[in-house]
Amino acid sequence: MAKSTTLFMCNSCGNEFPKWLGQCPICHEWNTLVEVTNFTKSSKAKPRLAGPAATPLTPKQALKNEGHQAFPTHIEEFDRVLGAGLTPGGVYLIAGQPGIGKSTLLTQLAISLPSPLLYICSEENVGQVATRISRITKKDTRHISLLNTSSLEEILAGAGRLKPSLVIVDSIQSIATEANPTTAGSPSQIRDCASLLIRAAKETNIPIIIVGHVTKKGTIAGPKLLEHMVDTVLELTGDRQHELRLLRGIKNRFGPTDETGIFRMTNGGLEEVSDPSKFLLEGRLKGTPGSILALVMEGTRPMTAEIQALVVDSAIPIPRRVAKGVNTNRLQLICAILTKHLKLPLGSKDVFVNITGGLTVNEPGVDLAIALAIISSVKNKALPDSSICFGELGLLGEIRSVAFGDRRLKEAKKLGYKHIYNPSTHPHLSKIIKNSK
Ligand code: TYD
Ligand code: MG
Repeated sequence: MAKSTTLFMCNSCGNEFPKWLGQCPICHEWNTLVEVTNFTKSSKAKPRLAGPAATPLTPKQALKNEGHQAFPTHIEEFDRVLGAGLTPGGVYLIAGQPGIGKSTLLTQLAISLPSPLLYICSEENVGQVATRISRITKKDTRHISLLNTSSLEEILAGAGRLKPSLVIVDSIQSIATEANPTTAGSPSQIRDCASLLIRAAKETNIPIIIVGHVTKKGTIAGPKLLEHMVDTVLELTGDRQHELRLLRGIKNRFGPTDETGIFRMTNGGLEEVSDPSKFLLEGRLKGTPGSILALVMEGTRPMTAEIQALVVDSAIPIPRRVAKGVNTNRLQLICAILTKHLKLPLGSKDVFVNITGGLTVNEPGVDLAIALAIISSVKNKALPDSSICFGELGLLGEIRSVAFGDRRLKEAKKLGYKHIYNPSTHPHLSKIIKNSK
């Protein structure tokens, strides 16, 4: 019989220790050790039969044998993020906040693939998934096999019987292997299930997509090791109050990580957005103080987003800095730069900044737009209608160049904007103000 011992596993690097420690001695992360039950296999356990992977091959032979040709998912935005599509034997982890649309996206992927596939719905029953499928499409979906189980052994047996072109496991937190008696969702259970799924994918050459939950802090639930183990990590993000959903590649062994798939959640599932700028600017009020367009990058794609600012007298001793779609610390910094270098009276004002459409921008190229929107609101003067901007703000008030500057400029010219505020035309904030007087 297998013997159980208590061990402590580091959630970050996956190493195990016999006692609890505040800091992991291997990866030096703090407070990452959690208690896990380890089951030492009996020494009589037979070693696994050597499969074809145990035979050494030259790279050329390996390519010939494996058939590593990726196949498209037929969802253009998904393929853009993956590179060329799904690679046989690849293991993909797709993570996101609850209710953001992971199951919807994977249901659509299942519908769009023409070949047989196995959809493991361990979180929902087959009726719920079938209802979602019928909500999204009226097409023939006989190629989809739904299986409601939380047993990893049943999943592997099902995949062995069906020999599908893809297995979708929704989700890793709700499945468990008999080899580990801890409850589904425990760090060691996630690790063991993931490693068995990965082994099955590599041995059978069937790609597997695993759904992962995201914690309150925004990190993928379970051991960090999970992200190291899989081939590709994708993240579906967005604001549940808005339609916009972004699919980003965080890690990709088969392709780029700088691409973003853009979708909008509709009543009929996720719709691909081919012109995100048009979608983000829907309902924009032109010629209004406090609004400016910015050229922001989503992966390698330049997009036009509207940045709005509202500056009003504050009724409290410490004025508020409220940001939606941009980092609040960044907003505070920009307010300080504007106070110092343009003598803007922000000390007694509340400043609110918003990016419309539910978009969140983390790149510094949006700094100049935030500054211009604030200046425009303070002065109650609208910027010219055909103006757009991009650039990072330095602490000295200088406007610094940003990644993909040429591509942004080209896009702005293509879209016909006449006033393009950017680091080469306006190297310092004071120059913009002087010119606009
Ligand atoms: P879901 O894919 O179940 O989220 P997750 O798997 O990430 O938890 O989607 C949840 C939300 O999407 C739910 O609130 C309903 C909404 N939705 C639509 O708006 N349109 C649709 O066609 C579908 C299927 C879901
Ligand atoms: Mg779901």
